[in-house]
Amino acid sequence: MTDPKIIDGKAIAETQRARITAAVAVLKSEHDLTPGLAVVLVGEDPASQIYVRNKAKQTVACGMQSMEHRLPADTDQKTLVDLVTSLNEDPAVHGILVQLPLPDGIEEQAVIDTIDPDKDVDGFHVINTGRLATGAAAMVPCTPLGCLTMLQDRLGDLSGLEAVIVGRSNIVGKPMAALLLAANCTVTIAHSRSRDLPALCRRADILVAAVGRPEMIRGDWIKPGAAVIDVGINRVPAAEEGKTRLVGDVAFAKAIAVAGAITPVPGGVGPMTIAMLLRNTVIAACRQNAIPEPDL
Ligand code: GUN
Repeated sequence: MTDPKIIDGKAIAETQRARITAAVAVLKSEHDLTPGLAVVLVGEDPASQIYVRNKAKQTVACGMQSMEHRLPADTDQKTLVDLVTSLNEDPAVHGILVQLPLPDGIEEQAVIDTIDPDKDVDGFHVINTGRLATGAAAMVPCTPLGCLTMLQDRLGDLSGLEAVIVGRSNIVGKPMAALLLAANCTVTIAHSRSRDLPALCRRADILVAAVGRPEMIRGDWIKPGAAVIDVGINRVPAAEEGKTRLVGDVAFAKAIAVAGAITPVPGGVGPMTIAMLLRNTVIAACRQNAIPEPDL
């Protein structure tokens, strides 16, 4: 039997996808609307290719339309911006995702900021950052939204809890802080320049690790009973010669002995991220067609 402390992201994502599939069926039958997600991939980064394939597969599995646009690595910024502009104008496209990282020479935020904010299912447009920060109806970045969903699934109301986020990226750390603040947590963002990181982490009822450093968060940095969300996906050499394995930013074996709940890597945050992308696409399609949003 799996340890009951483990927060099973794969199972929660499956439940989410079932709800999304049901909502998509209603949109089709009652509103003749099929949500469409356009994914743009520039270049041949192998990890990005795997992500994009998975996104397309799951989009179709939920009954939505997937449009893939693959551009060569030497694509210039104007060509990419022109493609995004045409997707903004296409009424069959409700969500646009430009896979990151983009090749050198392309300004990522400039490209993202050409996406129609209401089609920005990644929630990376500066308008959505502002909406999230002020409590307006935003497109919310998928990874932090997946983390919040798992925390609420396990803990219910998060009001008053001490949350410490390690990592201050625009994609995870900062939006995670905004979401936990909106959920009435007391929020600290720690980072590479923070003094006494272990002591900061030990204060956390909720600890979110998003630094991209294999097993950096040690077992004795964790407050007994805390909920630990591990966003890290790090490939490290395995015991067997020439093989690799995935580990998170948390030293899992030691951490699970102390924590009250913890996400595994793989099978924690990863599956939730794509489920939230599908959710955002449904929400975007509803908002663009003035249809009440389903409760997802
Ligand atoms: N690359 C890695 N994760 C993501 C993500 O969530 N969105 C996009 N657009 N690119 C990514």
